[in-house]
Amino acid sequence: MSLIDRYAVFGHPIKHSKSPRIHGLFAEQTEQVLEYTAQDVPAEHFSTVAEKFFHDGGKGLNCTVPLKELAWSYADYRTERAQLSKAVNTLALQTDGAILGDNTDGVGLVTDLTTNNAISLFGIRILVLGAGGASRGILTPILGQSPKTLVIANRTADKAVKLAAEFHANGPVTGCGFDALENQQFDLILNATSASLSGQLPPLPAGLLAEGGNCYDLAYGNEPTAFVRWGLENHAVKSLDGLGMLVEQAAEAFFIWRGVRPRTQPVIELLNSERPF
Ligand code: ATR
Repeated sequence: MSLIDRYAVFGHPIKHSKSPRIHGLFAEQTEQVLEYTAQDVPAEHFSTVAEKFFHDGGKGLNCTVPLKELAWSYADYRTERAQLSKAVNTLALQTDGAILGDNTDGVGLVTDLTTNNAISLFGIRILVLGAGGASRGILTPILGQSPKTLVIANRTADKAVKLAAEFHANGPVTGCGFDALENQQFDLILNATSASLSGQLPPLPAGLLAEGGNCYDLAYGNEPTAFVRWGLENHAVKSLDGLGMLVEQAAEAFFIWRGVRPRTQPVIELLNSERPF
């Protein structure tokens, strides 16, 4: 058994994951001695490989696509924010040997918006595009910021309506199809569809973004995503991609595992400076 505390990110594919780099920078900054690796784990092998990881002394895992739902089931118990999201991106070994499941994606997004970019969610009109796993994971922390309204719009309208109904108790959330967005305005539009990754955009009517509004794509890449470009074309004050959210969700996981909160700003700045745009 290794003397160094071991952590890893599991996913499939995992080759381009920035998580080992981010956690390496956090460890260096906070002088924590640990190892953090990336492992390609297809869904069908997840529980066996996770079992072996913890059996061999591993302390914590991050789980990414397509393993977040499996990680949710794998956890012995879950935080409240992970419970409703039905997805877990952080597993942490507890002192009693149980495995805690958490979802730090939503809090990572909220921190990037509010702390790093000074975009307050209190009392504003928010639109979330998409009603899949990525949307589900961010709803509780967003509603926790007391927006005026939260509308989920999805290509398949029914999915958005059902998702909104599940979170009804947490705040003023409704669901609809893209056609229902005509003549509506929002102060913040979040893209949580997987369309962005393939350079596609949902059909968004002109005038959807209110004056002084902001856009945020949960995805990120080495060039501005289609939605980030849409935001710029529609005069968003800020049109951001998900790099800051990635670093913030990692910082939250690091805190869960190590009890130490790393400073995220220098890491975001470093990763940004390495991008070609
Ligand atoms: P994830 O975990 O990334 O959210 P998912 O659960 O498969 O992945 O959900 C993908 C989301 O992107 C869905 O909301 C999907 O819309 P549908 O529910 O109608 O399928 C949305 N999506 C994917 N491609 C899209 C496209 N080209 N235009 C609009 N929405 C798209």
